[in-house]
Amino acid sequence: MSEFRRSQRLQALPRYLFAELERRRAEAESAGREVLDVSIGDPDLPTPPAILDRMAEAARDPRNHRYPTSAGMPDARAAIAAWFERRFGVSLDPKREIAILIGSKEGIGHFPLAALDPGDEALVPDPGYPVYAAGTVFAGATPVRYPLHETDGFLPDLAVLSRLVTPRTRVVFVNYPNNPTGASAPAAFHGRLAEWAAKRGLWIASDAAYSEMYYEEAPATALAAPGARDRTIEFHSFSKTFNMTGWRIGFAAGAAPMIEALVALKANLDSGAPQAIQLAAVAGLATLDTHGPALRAVYRERRDLALDTLRRLGCPIRTPGGAFYLWGRVPAGEASMDFVTRVFEKTGVLLTPGNGFGDEGEGYFRIALTCPTDRLRRALEKLEALAPWTSAHAAGSAR
Ligand SMILES: Cc1ncc(COP(=O)(O)O)c(C=O)c1O
Repeated sequence: MSEFRRSQRLQALPRYLFAELERRRAEAESAGREVLDVSIGDPDLPTPPAILDRMAEAARDPRNHRYPTSAGMPDARAAIAAWFERRFGVSLDPKREIAILIGSKEGIGHFPLAALDPGDEALVPDPGYPVYAAGTVFAGATPVRYPLHETDGFLPDLAVLSRLVTPRTRVVFVNYPNNPTGASAPAAFHGRLAEWAAKRGLWIASDAAYSEMYYEEAPATALAAPGARDRTIEFHSFSKTFNMTGWRIGFAAGAAPMIEALVALKANLDSGAPQAIQLAAVAGLATLDTHGPALRAVYRERRDLALDTLRRLGCPIRTPGGAFYLWGRVPAGEASMDFVTRVFEKTGVLLTPGNGFGDEGEGYFRIALTCPTDRLRRALEKLEALAPWTSAHAAGSAR
């Protein structure tokens, strides 16, 4: 019998660095060692009761037992449009400028199939969430990585970006608040990017999955920037905002031709998000005035706890403006993976190596603040005992 061969596009994906860590974690756990996992951005907190109640009610309604539509329920899209206007001051046509997604990852991963042809290029951030590049590769197009540097607050340098543009460049992906760096973008950044993209005839794909996960200033939507509205698709998620990663629900908002292209693609691939989940998720939007501040208070406490410990150890680390990650430097001279391996072997604390997010992530590690506060505290105590950053490294502390 002939051997099954994976498609070239699947083979073209970069090596999955985390598989090795998962193997080590399983090995340690089966040997009875305590593992303190701060490597995965998956909220430990429960989905709020208002969403669960609406879900239970909607699940019992037979109208929600049938196929949904690919674009999403009109009522759910209308509720999202109303929230978007309240939150961001941008008015959207729910019929043409909003589509419900089966999690923002689904939309981000599928968008290149709706927007790019083989040979086209998409600019993707490095370090960055891997799905921008994976979706681009699946579309037969080429991801071109642009660097995010700490010295620029992990915002793209538009002069560097300009040099990466070729006649085949079609789309630029941006992500703020940012995974993995925790950087936020000021509203003015989106205006500069839109102007830059308009001059070059490029389309913007803005990943705003963490728009409600901020510490001080609420992020603006890219769609509010002058000149952005007609060339931007923005991806939003209920996962992080409402602790509902397992429910798979998000939405895309933006330029009608971009939304409509994505919906046309989805109509051929999936049949939309389950209706009860759509109704439950949008019920959450009405609770954000109280739920949002409470959620952010939990992460702020964890962030400050972790920053305090790491800085005391001499780890150079920026204060994140949003998302629920800390992005710190590994001790000078040590590779990210070596550091993460050493920390895991000595303490059982599982960090994420920065190079898992791209070459520019080398020299960094990531902590996800999505584990219970007492476990995070325990993980930090273990790190403290290890004291991995020598005093020589502390001298370069970058706040
Ligand atoms: C930057 C970023 N975008 C999008 C997603 C996908 O979120 P979801 O598909 O749960 O909406 C994630 C998940 O970790 C993320 O970190």
